[in-house]
This record gives sequence, structure tokens and C-alpha cells, in this order.
Amino acid sequence: MMATHPILTINSLSLATTSKEPLVSNVSFSLGKGESLGLVGESGSGKSLTLRAILGLLPRGVEQSGGVIETAASSAMVFQDPRGALDPLCPVVNQLAEVVYYRQRVGRKASRKIALELLEMLGLPESLKKADRYPSQLSGGQCQRVVIAMALACKPDILLCDEPTTALDVTVQRQIIETITRLQNELGFAMVFVTHNLAIAANLCSKLCVMKQGRIVEHGETQQLLHNPSDPYTQMLIDSVLPLPELEGSEAE
Ligand SMILES: Nc1ncnc2c1ncn2[C@@H]1O[C@H](COP(=O)(O)OP(=O)(O)OP(=O)(O)O)[C@@H](O)[C@H]1O
Ligand SMILES: [Mg+2]
Repeated sequence: MMATHPILTINSLSLATTSKEPLVSNVSFSLGKGESLGLVGESGSGKSLTLRAILGLLPRGVEQSGGVIETAASSAMVFQDPRGALDPLCPVVNQLAEVVYYRQRVGRKASRKIALELLEMLGLPESLKKADRYPSQLSGGQCQRVVIAMALACKPDILLCDEPTTALDVTVQRQIIETITRLQNELGFAMVFVTHNLAIAANLCSKLCVMKQGRIVEHGETQQLLHNPSDPYTQMLIDSVLPLPELEGSEAE
């Protein structure tokens, strides 16, 4: 594959609490145009904070204590908890139209039209296009699709996905992953995909960074990293992906 000029470069990023307790240390990676990078690692390893730093939206009490984030690209985030990211008191189509209105700087009527097109693009049913459909009337998978539509309404160069499928059952998880892959092919955005699920990251991303306790313990091309892990923690993640047991009588009769 031809190497592209990075649209995002993170160099020795460190994050700490305002009382100087280190949370993320010395994280470096780069992302090319249209490329997908997976950030995998255990709970509390600093994945979400790293994404928030890229977005420029660190939570209260956390600050950048070192390093540089270089990018001229726009990014939008798909948050970990889709239902929490939606306003329960506003119909979904209106919420989406509002994001289009402010981010794409088009008129009210055009915003609504684009919002309806986005809902369709995400494979949401016709019924959700009505102005009386609230988030509480949607399934978890539908909420996640709306939240992805909202991020895409910002026309980002980089889509930051924070465990977008963790709360969903495995069949819906798969559908959402397939939808994200299709949209990435259609729209060409780059992606940083955070998950604790190595199998999902390996399926989606050409490069992986493995995080543990606020540091990247290993990074590289996905295939290389899976076949030849150099860090014991990466090996442990690989070993913890359970293979399906062989089916009885699966041999040709
Ligand atoms: N606002 C905050 N103030 C202080 N510490 C925080 C804050 N937000 C996160 N942390 C700490 O920073 C560390 C990294 O948190 P982060 O949310 O990035 O983890 P994560 O890898 O996304 O975990 P998970 O997989 O559970 O979502 C954790 O130890 C967490 O307790
Ligand atoms: Mg997180």
C-alpha cells in the first residue's frame, strides 16, 4: 500500500490530572488519509482520554502535560454510550437536523433533507423520519446508528469511535461494524477505533496500538502484530480471543 502523508500525528502525548497524577504517558502514533487505526487495551488504559485529547475535549480535571497533537483535519466522535449521547426530550430527526444546520451551514429545510438522507444511509427505518420519534422509542442499535449519523453530519476527515458496539448484542454489533466499513469506503474518512475487543479491531483496522496502564506497549501493522506479538500483554489479548469449538459431525459424510 502506498504511504500517505499523515493527517494526524501524535507525538509523545501525556495526560495528567490537574493534581499532576499521570494518566496517559508518551503516546505516539500517526494516521494517514482514509486509514483505520485500532486502539485496544484493558479498561482504564487511557483509550477514551486519548480520543478526547484528539477531539480537544478533555474532561474537567484532566490536562495535557506533554507532547504534541498535530492535525489540520476535522474530527467527530461516536461516544461509548449512544443513548447518553442523545437528548431524550428531542425527536431524533430534529437532533440530527440541528447538527447538520450548525455544522454544514445550510438552511433549515436543507438541514432536514440532509438529516433524512443520513438516516437512510445508516439503514434506519422510515418510521424514524417522523418528528414524533424520541430516543426512548429506539433500540440500542438504532440509537448507535443515529449517533454515527450525527458524527457523519459533521463531515469529519477522522471519525473517532469510542467502543461504539460494546453495549450491543453480537449480531447488532456485526451489522454496525459492517455499516461503518461500508460508509468508510463510500465517504473515505480515516478512523481511530477504540475497543477492548481485539478481534473487532483486527477486522476493521490496518494498524493497531495496544495500550496498557496509560502507555502503548506495542504498535504496528495488524497482521504483523497478530502473527508476531512482541509484548506479553498483546500475546495475552490474542490468547483470550476464544475460538469456536469444532462442530461435531462437521466433517463430510
Ligand atoms: N475526568 C477524570 N479525572 C480523573 N481521572 C480520570 C478522568 N477520566 C478518566 N480518568 C482516569 O484515566 C484513566 C484512563 O481512563 P480512560 O477513560 O481513558 O480509560 P479507557 O481505556 O477508555 O477505559 P474503558 O475501556 O473502561 O472505557 C483511568 O484510570 C481513569 O480513572
Ligand atoms: Mg473508554
